[in-house]
Amino acid sequence: MEKTFVCTSIGGNDLMLIWDGGRAVACERACPHEQADLSRGQLSNGRLLCPRHAASFDLDDGSITAGWPSRPLRIYPVRIAEEQVWIDAKALRNAGSPQP
Ligand code: FES
Repeated sequence: MEKTFVCTSIGGNDLMLIWDGGRAVACERACPHEQADLSRGQLSNGRLLCPRHAASFDLDDGSITAGWPSRPLRIYPVRIAEEQVWIDAKALRNAGSPQP
């Protein structure tokens, strides 16, 4: 069975790598609303649904369902080269997280 979510930690940042419709998306693992574990969520039409309160996030830009009092989900640039996935560490630092 192919996994859709892969969880990892880089420099103290808990991240997820998501395979969605033939693309790879890296994002923070904790929901920006109340820190639910988004790896327990579901994918639907390019959106990630939070398992706790069912808000959803657009995997293109991280925007949250209209009306939710929360910031967007942090999305990090991903590059696939030589069968490996690379996540932009500068973007992690720019998000105000600990350095990888
Ligand atoms: S914790 Fe994710 S929507 Fe509330």
